[in-house]
Amino acid sequence: MGAEVVIEGLTKSFGRQTIWRDVTLTLPPGEVSAMLGPSGTGKSVFLKSMIGLLKPDKGRCVINGVDIVTCSEHKLYEIRKLFGVLFQDGALFGSMNLYDNVAFPLREHTKKSESEIRRIVGEKLEMTGLAGADKKLPGEISGGMRKRAGLARALVLDPQIILVDEPDSGLDPVRTAYISQLLIDLNTQIDATILIVSHNINLARTVPDNLGMLFRKELVMFGPREVLLTSDEPVVEQFLNGRKRGPIGMSEEKDTATMAREEAEAAAGHSDGSPDEDIRGVVPQMQPSPGLPERAGARRRMDRVMRILHTLPANAQEGIIESLTPEEQRHYNVHANPRYAPQNPAPQNRPGLDDTQQIPRISDRGPVPNQHQGQLPADQVARIPGGAGEGAQPRPGGGYFGGGGNGPGGA
Ligand SMILES: Nc1ncnc2c1ncn2[C@@H]1O[C@H](COP(=O)(O)OP(=O)(O)OP(=O)(O)O)[C@@H](O)[C@H]1O
Ligand SMILES: [Mg+2]
Repeated sequence: MGAEVVIEGLTKSFGRQTIWRDVTLTLPPGEVSAMLGPSGTGKSVFLKSMIGLLKPDKGRCVINGVDIVTCSEHKLYEIRKLFGVLFQDGALFGSMNLYDNVAFPLREHTKKSESEIRRIVGEKLEMTGLAGADKKLPGEISGGMRKRAGLARALVLDPQIILVDEPDSGLDPVRTAYISQLLIDLNTQIDATILIVSHNINLARTVPDNLGMLFRKELVMFGPREVLLTSDEPVVEQFLNGRKRGPIGMSEEKDTATMAREEAEAAAGHSDGSPDEDIRGVVPQMQPSPGLPERAGARRRMDRVMRILHTLPANAQEGIIESLTPEEQRHYNVHANPRYAPQNPAPQNRPGLDDTQQIPRISDRGPVPNQHQGQLPADQVARIPGGAGEGAQPRPGGGYFGGGGNGPGGA
């Protein structure tokens, strides 16, 4: 299973310009997460900071017990081998054909023989639908093929963590759907931890297990997909609906006077071309291609989310419960209607779990946090408990909590 990434209080600036501050989140091992955010909010800087290409000013980014912000160059070099990265621009070497581009990390980081390299490169080109294109130069292929070649290269070292920066930029909607499917299938096949940066609303709604959003130099939210998909937070709502009206402007965030003027114009019947329809809500998540096994990350996530269900906003709870099959609702002892009522007064103990690992009784849940005022309390959404039995407690400062043991579905 992929590695867990624990990020705490990460802050990055260039000179006097703060890009983002105090970012705290955990990428749960083997799950697919996506980071949204308007252009220029520092998403690419965030990915580069996660692999130590850029040095954050403050905070920690802990992978397999190593804090890459403070570790030695040698340790960083070792940790980087766990990563596969698709940069925003593909970053292929223009003078090398696809074969040599994809083989590059193997030649650079391993002592593998050329015949072994041939086997691995062939496998990754096949996986990304590029079999037969190995002799082509990057300049001779389409943008979509370049993206896939960048992805093939990101995969050759069998990464535990895959970072993909805008896999869909420059692609038509059909190719975007294919690359989305490829990411889900990859996660199914190699169980890596994946973080996708994207602007694509459809991808954001249907691909990741967890969603986050950067805005105003901060992490607005990070949590299970259902939390953002049902959120009333104005920035999230505006972004997911692709509307002009809201706090996000063309270059900078808008001032309140501009927002009030827009509201008044809309109320007076002016159309700014934004869709009327509100597309928020929990839509079905993309599944692995037919013929592939069940996605272990999805099963683990569901167990994890059901353990913290009582800490999530009411809309998200409702969306999660409604998206469960009747069997799953029975398994987790929840009921869609009437609202959140447990089917039995006492939940049945789930075999193989001790008391602390049992799914919280819905009837025992505490007050539902109010999402309408903006950011959710950090201990409820911004940090995802990764290990079994942690409940919704925030992680204590220094510790690394190894992946694995994520409940019965954990492989
Ligand atoms: N090496 C650098 N030196 C100085 N400033 C930088 C550097 N890299 C990025 N920036 C600045 O950091 C900010 C965030 O840039 P970044 O590329 O991370 O945005 P982004 O969210 O990925 O945007 P987009 O969605 O357009 O790709 C920008 O203001 C950019 O100018
Ligand atoms: Mg970017």
